[in-house]
Amino acid sequence: MAKHPVKALPYANDALKGIGAKTIEIHHDKLYAGYVNKRNEIEEALTGVDRSKANQIYSQMRGLKHEETFAANGQILHELYFGVMGGDGQPAGEVFDKIKEDFGSYASWEEDFKASGMCARGWVVLAYDPTDGRLHNFIGDAQNQGGVWGAFPVLPCDTYEHSYFIDYGSDRKAYLEAFMRNISWPEVNRRYLAAVNMALAKK
Ligand SMILES: [Fe+2]
Repeated sequence: MAKHPVKALPYANDALKGIGAKTIEIHHDKLYAGYVNKRNEIEEALTGVDRSKANQIYSQMRGLKHEETFAANGQILHELYFGVMGGDGQPAGEVFDKIKEDFGSYASWEEDFKASGMCARGWVVLAYDPTDGRLHNFIGDAQNQGGVWGAFPVLPCDTYEHSYFIDYGSDRKAYLEAFMRNISWPEVNRRYLAAVNMALAKK
């Protein structure tokens, strides 16, 4: 199986507003790269695991399969997270209209997104659920918990302390404000339209 590549940041380490170069350097180069490398290591280990000993209480197979989802979601969510930043924070496009339609107003959505970010232990994700055709703010306490099957992540925000501790200490609220100022809405809109098209393609 081909190895998963560590994707380069689409902007410079110091390009973001209020999220510093040191934070991004650690977050992207160490933590995100760590998920990708471990996912590759797990996939390699899985090729040689003794499948006849698979057991739900403890087995090498279970350990690898369980941590595979942690590493894979760690890779995927971080790539989306870095990918939706680097913008001017000005909402636009069809996703902006859909946010207003599903949450009543942009302000209501933003209030809910940030409150969700305050109560999540790991992630808050704006996701499009093709089963009801609506946008939702979902939270996850770990990468492999809280995901909703079939829902397509449109705008994820990492709420682990490593995303903001250097810049804001324990002030997560200030970090969430900074995150909002960095959103690339054309990228969020591209992801939203891809989700809708995916849902339509299934009909
Ligand atoms: Fe992270």
